[in-house]
Amino acid sequence: MKMPQFIQLHHDSAEAIRHELIQGLSANLQAGGAEVSPKFLYDALGSRLFEAITELPEYYPTRTEAAIFQAQAVAMAQHIPRGATLIDLGAGNCNKAASLFEVLAPVRYVAVDISVDFLRAALGSLQRQYPAIEMLGIGLDFSRQLTLPPEAGAPNAEPRVLFYPGSSIGNFTPDQALEFLRQVRTACGTAAGSGLLIGVDLVKDPLELQAAYDDALGVTAAFNRNLISNVNRLVGSDMHLADWAHLALFNPVDSRIEMHLVAQRDLRVNWPEGSRAFVQGERLHTENSYKWTVTGFTHLLRAAGFAEPVVWTDAPVPEQGRFAVLWAGA
Ligand code: AVI
Repeated sequence: MKMPQFIQLHHDSAEAIRHELIQGLSANLQAGGAEVSPKFLYDALGSRLFEAITELPEYYPTRTEAAIFQAQAVAMAQHIPRGATLIDLGAGNCNKAASLFEVLAPVRYVAVDISVDFLRAALGSLQRQYPAIEMLGIGLDFSRQLTLPPEAGAPNAEPRVLFYPGSSIGNFTPDQALEFLRQVRTACGTAAGSGLLIGVDLVKDPLELQAAYDDALGVTAAFNRNLISNVNRLVGSDMHLADWAHLALFNPVDSRIEMHLVAQRDLRVNWPEGSRAFVQGERLHTENSYKWTVTGFTHLLRAAGFAEPVVWTDAPVPEQGRFAVLWAGA
């Protein structure tokens, strides 16, 4: 039986992480206000809270995307090559990609996530289920630079299917998304048939969007507020959970949900070499989740060098869908 291989390509040093966080915490209003990258939402507890979010009645993206994959499997198989190298960006528990194995019959499965440790258990059990598929786990912060090692296969051999589900693309600004998609286009390599299979959340009624990011049970609030504990751990700061409230709002100008933490009183956040004062009501910006139209996202794919995509949504008229899955040939 084949054994999965694992490679950790790059880890930020603890010092680089502290530096990034302190810069974000210190940013004043002229510089856009305090902000922390959404990647710091995902410590061990944050990752579990995110999994819980995907089961909430209000959080439609995960189940809508899964329903599209199920309903359109046969149609997808007509466009996406079998026998490819399937490259899963942000693989996590690898479940979404594994659900495509029967339809796509990949020869190689490359699971990429920020830390290779997240992939070990999932890839181990997947390899036992699918002994014929070559499996590789790569630890890489691909949101910065997507460069695949030679172990991922030659870029001109089998076709490559890049897989980026879950509307994680929405957590990039449009400029960052364009740059990222250009890198994905390059990573598709040069073999005929390669392309990108991507899930994108669509613009919809702001009330439905708002509810998805501010659920009645308060799980998204816990997910957002848990960032405080993670930042304290990484920076050595003294933020108190009780001082910060969850805020999710739809910004129609930028077509994005914004998550913030709002200071509940005038306070000061201290860390070993500095501090930052917040007045009551001041915000710490923690996440953007951009919502696209099918037309807008198609333009973005074309600008990144992809062909006209095939689009599947959960509605007969694509623009009326809540979520879209797109296959864009390279
Ligand atoms: C991971 N990402 C696509 C989620 C989203 O919907 O933007 C993260 C999330 N934030 C709050 N709820 C879910």
